[in-house]
Amino acid sequence: MSLIEKAVERLEGLQLDPAKKGSSAPQRHEPSLAILNTDERNERSPSDGNPVAAASRQVEIDLARLGAAGFITPDTPGSLTAEEFRVLKRPLLANVAGSAAPIRNANLIMVTSSLPGEGKSFTAINLAMSIAMELDRTVLLVDADVARPSLPRVLGLPEQQGLLDVLQDKSLKLSDVLLRTNIDKLTILTAGTQDAHATELLASEAMGRLLNDIARRYSDRIIIFDSPPLLLTTEARVLASRMGQILFVVRAEETPQNAVKEALATIEACPVKLMVLNQARNVENVAYGYEYGYGY
Ligand SMILES: Nc1ncnc2c1ncn2[C@@H]1O[C@H](COP(=O)(O)OP(=O)(O)O)[C@@H](O)[C@H]1O
Ligand SMILES: [Mg+2]
Repeated sequence: MSLIEKAVERLEGLQLDPAKKGSSAPQRHEPSLAILNTDERNERSPSDGNPVAAASRQVEIDLARLGAAGFITPDTPGSLTAEEFRVLKRPLLANVAGSAAPIRNANLIMVTSSLPGEGKSFTAINLAMSIAMELDRTVLLVDADVARPSLPRVLGLPEQQGLLDVLQDKSLKLSDVLLRTNIDKLTILTAGTQDAHATELLASEAMGRLLNDIARRYSDRIIIFDSPPLLLTTEARVLASRMGQILFVVRAEETPQNAVKEALATIEACPVKLMVLNQARNVENVAYGYEYGYGY
């Protein structure tokens, strides 16, 4: 049995079959399924050396290093990973553009999973890169996995003030800590200065206000949250409840079924969920092995 078949069978076991889209069953917010097999390491390629106008908070992402680590960059638009994310982002962007049933704050997209190490940061960064490479889209990538932030390490950024600082310091404005990058349409908000109460702050009133502010002020922007796993803390669930769309990452053949089931139960109320089966290796023709469909 192929990995895709196994995955689908497993999902059917969880009653997550995306084919239920058109059924007249009571409305459940069931995730659809996408399969990622991004096991490739792109060829090392030089940074495009494309500095944008100097800004006070401007950072330089090391694109060559990022590309070598298998991430999408403007230099690797034809990679398998780039192709997979082109498919993955389509339904998310369609929801932002508006559908028959508009989704509140559809531009707030959370990338989460049951447990650590399932590929949330990998997915969030690639999704942000892929969307930023569109002609008419700007992206804000937020490092909301405040206990285990990844963006500084993966993108090669210096330690910066960020989300946690804005949440605690009323005199600090969001615009003070946003980082413009050498990818014109990509702005970054790092997790910021580490704090003993970092995770609690994610579920705070201040975070709620910040999210409303971001969704309103940057309504033309796609805001992607690299988020904590759902099963370790309750704060991630509060964050999930404030999002328009959720990308739920499952590490193929690693994450126990009961963990997936339990985590999905915590985000039942979110109107849009897309499940990503990550690191589905050894799947033939995987670039075309996607299945989509939304349950509203
Ligand atoms: N599809 C993938 N292809 C290649 N490497 C991946 C893939 N998904 C995750 N990884 C790698 O696995 C590790 C864990 O992924 P990460 O995104 O950091 O997990 P999380 O954010 O969920 O804790 C990282 O080194 C990441 O680069
Ligand atoms: Mg991470």
